[in-house]
Formats: sequence, C-alpha cells, structure tokens
Amino acid sequence: MERREDILACIGRGFVRLRAKGLRNTLLYGLHFLREQAASALLDLKYGGKLCKTDLEINRARQQCHTMVHSHYHVLRDVFADLPIRREDVLVDVGCGEGRVINFWLSLGLQNRLIGIEIDQAVASRTRQRYRKYPNVTIIHGDATANLPAEGTIFYLYNPFAAELVERFEAAVRSQGATIVYHNNRYMLPFESNGWAIRPIRPERRIYEFTAAIITPSGRAATA
Ligand SMILES: C[S@@+](CC[C@H](N)C(=O)[O-])C[C@H]1O[C@@H](n2cnc3c(N)ncnc32)[C@H](O)[C@@H]1O
Repeated sequence: MERREDILACIGRGFVRLRAKGLRNTLLYGLHFLREQAASALLDLKYGGKLCKTDLEINRARQQCHTMVHSHYHVLRDVFADLPIRREDVLVDVGCGEGRVINFWLSLGLQNRLIGIEIDQAVASRTRQRYRKYPNVTIIHGDATANLPAEGTIFYLYNPFAAELVERFEAAVRSQGATIVYHNNRYMLPFESNGWAIRPIRPERRIYEFTAAIITPSGRAATA
C-alpha cells in the first residue's frame, strides 16, 4: 500500500475510534501508536534490514489467501508472554511476509530454528536473502497448508488464510502435537470440532485491541 493510503487509513481509523471511545482514549491510543511505530521501525531495521511493508494486492489472484499486513510487536509480546519456548522448539511463522515475526523472535535472543513460510515467491525470495546471515533462520516458499514443516512445534498464524485453508492447515498439523498461536483467529471451527484445547488471549488493561488464541492438542495444558 502507498504511504499516502496508509496515512488516510490511519486517520479514518482515528475518527472511528474517536466516535466509539471518546477523546481521551483516542489521544492515549495515538501516543501509544506513535511510540510503537518508532519501536517497530527500530526492530524491523535491526533484525530484518528493512521496514516491513503492507501489501493489500499481493494475493488478489489466490483464492482464500489473505493480504500482507504485519503483526504489531505489542501484540507479539502479549501473545508470546506466557507461552514457554523450549530449547528444542522449532518455531514456524505461517505466511511470514517480510519477516516481522522472525524479527520478534530474534529480538528475544532465541537460538531455536525459526522457519518462515510464504506463498508469494517474490516476497519469499527477498525475505530469504535478507535473513541469510542468521544460521537458525530458514525462509521457505510455498503454500503452508501443503508444505507444512514437519519439524515445527510452535506455529504462529496472523490470519493468513480463510476457512477452507484453515481446515487444511488443521488437518496437516493435527498429528504433529504442536502448539498453534493464532492471532486474529477468525476461523476456529476446525480446531473446535477436532478436540483441540483453546485458550483465548485477552488484551486486558491495554489501550489496543486484538483477538488471539493459543491452541494445543487436547490432553496438553493450554496454559503456561
Ligand atoms: C496477515 S500477513 C502476516 C505476516 C506475518 N506473519 C506477520 O504476522 O507479520 C499473511 C501472510 O500470509 C501469506 N499467505 C497467505 N496464504 C498463505 C499460504 N497458503 N501459505 C503461505 N503463506 C500464505 C500472505 O502472502 C501474507 O504475507
């Protein structure tokens, strides 16, 4: 998306917020947003060597595949806050885009294998180039629902695709005993109907909103 459109979209969201939540909340949110934007830029540049860009056109021709919008670091901090990551865990970002989540994991100092899988070939190859200096990072090109890394133990999804592909993803991951962190978790039915344990994550006492859930195989506690 062009910078101008980004700014207009932001102003539009500001007005919606003002009407819904009032002036004080909107001002506090504005301050938080500006601080977060600055911190984001620093982390993007430090670990990924570029600012992660939104692209709303990217998957126009691919059924069920969503656009490229990156997770906010503040949400990543919240959703991973009480998810224990063990030395042997292999973390997979399903639909990694330009690498925001990989940046976040690197910023935690994780030495684990980190895998990003991205359906858009050009984005995947540019992202792979930029992360080649990290021996623990692999960027794969492909449809995650057909090429799910078998070694993955924690899968992160920021609403990368719609119902049918979530169904395929769930069927592929079911036997792996993995944990799924699903941000903007719009399509929960496959997990609900196949006996996964679901723990919603709520942004309590936060100025920002999001929805997310930690999904684990039944029989394994979904809490830290
Ligand atoms: C909402 S963005 C999330 C980017 C990144 N994970 C983050 O949280 O910052 C979704 C990404 O998933 C990719 N994607 C969509 N469908 C996919 C699929 N079937 N397999 C792999 N990647 C996919 C899109 O091209 C886009 O880059």
